[in-house]
Amino acid sequence: MKGKWRQNLHIEPPEGWMNDPNGLCFFDGLYHVYFQYSPGTPCGESTRRWGHYVSPNMLSWKYKGIVLEPDIPGDRDGVFSGSAVAFEDHIEYFYTGNVMEEGNFDYVLEGRGANVIFVSSSDGSYMSSKKIILDNSGYPDFCSCHVRDPKVTFEDGIYKMVLGARTKDDKGCVLFYEGADVDSFEYKGCFSAPDMGYMWECPDLFELGGRKYLAFCPQGVDQGDFKFQNLFQSGYFVFDGSVPLKLEEFEEFEEFDYGFDFYAPQTFTAPDGRRILIGWMGIGDDAYSNPTAELGWQHCLTLPRELSVDSDGMILQKPLRELETIKRPGKKVNGEAWEKLPFELECTDCSDKVSVAVSGAEITWSRDEGVLSLHFTNNEGFGRTERRINLESLTSLRIIADASSLEIYINGGRYVMSTRFYPEYKQVRIAADGASTEVYALRLNDTLVAIGEALIDFIPDKTGCEFREVTAFSPAAGGAPANVCAAYSKLGGKSRMITQLGQDPFGGVITGTLNDAGVDTSYISYTNAANTALAFVSLSKDGNRVFSFYRNPSADMLFEPGDVTGDMLDDCYALHFCSVSLGDFPMKDAHRAAVTIARRQGAIVSFDPNLRFMLWDDRSALKKVIWEFLPDCDILKISDEELEFITGTSSLEEAVPLLFAGSVKLVILTKGKDGASAFNPLGSVDSAVPAVKATDTTGAGDAFIGSFLWSLRSRGIGREDLGNCPLSVIKECLDFANRYCSISVQRSGAIPSYPTLEEMKGLNG
Ligand code: FRU
Repeated sequence: MKGKWRQNLHIEPPEGWMNDPNGLCFFDGLYHVYFQYSPGTPCGESTRRWGHYVSPNMLSWKYKGIVLEPDIPGDRDGVFSGSAVAFEDHIEYFYTGNVMEEGNFDYVLEGRGANVIFVSSSDGSYMSSKKIILDNSGYPDFCSCHVRDPKVTFEDGIYKMVLGARTKDDKGCVLFYEGADVDSFEYKGCFSAPDMGYMWECPDLFELGGRKYLAFCPQGVDQGDFKFQNLFQSGYFVFDGSVPLKLEEFEEFEEFDYGFDFYAPQTFTAPDGRRILIGWMGIGDDAYSNPTAELGWQHCLTLPRELSVDSDGMILQKPLRELETIKRPGKKVNGEAWEKLPFELECTDCSDKVSVAVSGAEITWSRDEGVLSLHFTNNEGFGRTERRINLESLTSLRIIADASSLEIYINGGRYVMSTRFYPEYKQVRIAADGASTEVYALRLNDTLVAIGEALIDFIPDKTGCEFREVTAFSPAAGGAPANVCAAYSKLGGKSRMITQLGQDPFGGVITGTLNDAGVDTSYISYTNAANTALAFVSLSKDGNRVFSFYRNPSADMLFEPGDVTGDMLDDCYALHFCSVSLGDFPMKDAHRAAVTIARRQGAIVSFDPNLRFMLWDDRSALKKVIWEFLPDCDILKISDEELEFITGTSSLEEAVPLLFAGSVKLVILTKGKDGASAFNPLGSVDSAVPAVKATDTTGAGDAFIGSFLWSLRSRGIGREDLGNCPLSVIKECLDFANRYCSISVQRSGAIPSYPTLEEMKGLNG
């Protein structure tokens, strides 16, 4: 099964080990999440670094690479946890540089350096040089050398920092520092509490609903039946006083989470003022295991949670409201149902007795017992057994289930339980007893799926001559649908190619090129029945292209409709296809199957006929098949050269209305160096192409539609919006696509010529 246990909505490492979330902030239109990362070692042996993810909406995340490495003596044994402060034009970061001296030390009282290190960045990726702003000599005498995890805020011109620490007599505590600038942090006091363990990690200090909260992760607290059931804890004190804190002002320590997998949370404020918490959905030194370690990666972060305050001052955690935008209509569960992960399950009217099972994880509660239990009825817990909460009344239960995790929100988020679980299949059994239960599929719909040919274009060593005069051809992966995917992914979007390749080295070249561009190739199939398609091209003196296709048949043509599965289109934003694969062979029916599924799922269907007459003995068959597919698409992209063949008229006024057949809501007409126009029911709009000197137009049309679709998606425009999307917005997308294309035509080849978003910033086009 593809991507077994890979999460859909949660941040997880591309490979290797992940622990604490770090440096959470919103900057320059994006949410930034950094994390403790040990690449290459799924069990965390390699030295910690900071990996980096970004997202425009906290739902779909993009991995941006490692941003901080242990490369100075002050952090040589680990770039440990820390935080970020986002300013108007830069981000400042504070983290612990971990140093383990060589020698015979206990590493508690001696042998360990814990430096607070400062770096800054103007884009969230490229870091300034590092500066140690506190070292062991800057901590109070009563501290051991375990001091770490600076959480810094900047308020009214003052930096405030909390650090987690262990005293020399093995008590956990939090240290408070303040400074007018990052070089002048001064110690302001410390806070500890009785029976709260030997070390406090990952502190956080924030305000919520007019109150103050000190959160931290104590280690070494005695475990109890209903409290502190994990090995290490994570929770908070509410207080009304000011720093340094006084113990008298506190009530009980409240746990953030009662599940198996939760630790080291951090909070930050979203631009709309919401306080968001993200935790590590894992825990150090735990007794249970995660089977993904054998597959090359381990752990993930929790979904972002919105914090608010209950009437008694306790924190309520609610699933991020953005999740509502990816919820499919609900289905009632009466007794038993099957549902594909990820989904949300909601029980209201919990009455006296409730039992809800998601595959092997069962949640039960009864008023008589007054206990809510999460337990495993099979081995999907991989060593996880039971977690319990004392609960007199149950008013609501919301479960967010991803491919390998459950987050259970109880009584409006007053209690939360987070756990990993490892069901064998993505479709799981749900059983609900004693509550009114609904299940909602959660689908991100962020992937561009293209179906059709992927082939090797052979580029001649000489142009301006006859085909037979060419003495060498160099291979380049191509095929219009594959190019479109590559453009979309190079811009940072998710894309997936559906095709079939031969089990031959050329198939491998295509897969490799697409992988490098970030395209999901895991649904490409391979056959021995035919070879990968090849296309040799030459350019004669008069500029005519002569193609010689090796497709008699090729592997892609033999792709069967039965090979198209719902899985491939599950998260589909738009399905894109062209006409080269619509000949009289199985691939044509595979297109039909894909279009049907995409339409059913509410995805945009995008069609670029991309005429290749030399592949058709009979042009009328080509025209016929175009009109067979055209009414089922939402976006039609054609070039001015194709207009007459498809509509039978060269007059734009007459042709365009004809193209609004069936579901078509947006027609894009490309006109080479004259730019492009778009037509929707509201009218039309033109976009000029930047004046550049084109050196190679291979794959330019694909660059255009790939970047256009990416631009639409980045503005959140779905199928329902296409017909009434303001023309000014469509123009923005056209302008973007024209600029993208103009950069591509100044470079050679198709896929290699497509710029990334970052590259576009510095290029003319
Ligand atoms: C918490 C923690 C932090 C430390 C980091 C190292 O899980 O131990 O205290 O900074 O992990 O990865």
